[in-house]
Amino acid sequence: METTTESAPRQHAEQPMTSAYDVDKVRADFPALHQLVHKKPLVYLDSAATALKPQSMIDAVTQIYAQHCGNVHRAVHTLSQSATAVYEGTRDKVQALLNASEREEIMFVRGTTEGINLVAQSWGRANLGPGDEVVVTELEHHSNMVPWHMVCAQTGARLVVVPVTEAGEITLDAFDACLSDKTKLVAMSHVSNVLGTVLPIRDMIARAHERGAVVLVDGAQGVVHGAVDVQALDCDFYVFSGHKLYGPTGTGALYGKRALLEEMPPWMGGGDMIGEVTIRGFTHNELPYKFEAGTPSIASVVGLGASVDYVTALGMNAIAAHEQRVLAHGLAALSEIPGLRFFGTAPNKASVISFAIDGVHTHDMGTLLDAHGIALRTGHHCAQPLMQRYGVTGMARASIGLYSRPEDFDVLVRALHRITKMFS
Ligand code: ALA
Repeated sequence: METTTESAPRQHAEQPMTSAYDVDKVRADFPALHQLVHKKPLVYLDSAATALKPQSMIDAVTQIYAQHCGNVHRAVHTLSQSATAVYEGTRDKVQALLNASEREEIMFVRGTTEGINLVAQSWGRANLGPGDEVVVTELEHHSNMVPWHMVCAQTGARLVVVPVTEAGEITLDAFDACLSDKTKLVAMSHVSNVLGTVLPIRDMIARAHERGAVVLVDGAQGVVHGAVDVQALDCDFYVFSGHKLYGPTGTGALYGKRALLEEMPPWMGGGDMIGEVTIRGFTHNELPYKFEAGTPSIASVVGLGASVDYVTALGMNAIAAHEQRVLAHGLAALSEIPGLRFFGTAPNKASVISFAIDGVHTHDMGTLLDAHGIALRTGHHCAQPLMQRYGVTGMARASIGLYSRPEDFDVLVRALHRITKMFS
């Protein structure tokens, strides 16, 4: 996928690779991989839905509850202080992962969905009105479409949707045609969770900025499959989920440029986000706490820090190169199945293969593959407008993680041959 490392020498100085990527060694770190499902060795091809977890991440979460079990930012006692230190340590790690210029530009959220809703409800309600336009693409996950539907309904702004090509691409011509002086915000995926398409976000961001629009990038599938540099991209917001980055569920991070975040009103009210509260009103806390109301998911955020350590040690570029090898093998192997149709054939594609097979309902396929110990997702993949675009109700999706092997696709293809014979 597109990498954005050129202006990030400090943060993206990967550990030197003294040997080739050792996927067997990597797999040893993931306990969930080593189990039987229906008496068959698990073949996990659903990392786009949620990634499996390395033992170091699991241990980091356990250690919080066993040892540093205090609330953060609230007390002078030792447990609270040590919990605060490790929780805030994750902020530094995420800042480095994204190459944000300041740690205060990183806010912890429950995931990509919450981060986008935060921007929609805080920035959107304060800045959008009748006559304004919000531009999204046709391939967006519901989490980057519904919050904009909602804020458009609340403010009178209009949603404009960039069409996707048959190959699953967003062309710059189509994007340009949707921009105008009315465009106030552009929200697009870095990588499609259904098609695997890597969007040309650097050019899209530049073109949106020429129109004076603010840009949010949904990085749920982007941060997982390659190095991200928010300063080089010059995006205004970038958001991702921890659980797709080998971390705990219920975590994620929103990056925003300080100048925008300073102007935005708080979204959720409660503890920690305040300066002073009286019966007449309140003042809000400084960044990033202004957007972190209530006791956060302390242990999970610390787990996210451990998962960032894990991928950073492997190196995002090394992970991306390994996944590209697995992707190429998977595409070649699946293309041998009679009647198989791929969705998403863009040349710039990452780690996601969606398909359908003539005469086999995707839900039947998913159930039958599970009996072979193979986990993949079937259905609309939280992208119903994209299903409507292709005239289908669902697709099967095999998605790759840093522990995936080419052999996983050989097992899948053998099982699909057996399944298609059942329906012929
Ligand atoms: N967003 C997740 C997926 O694409 C759940 O499967």
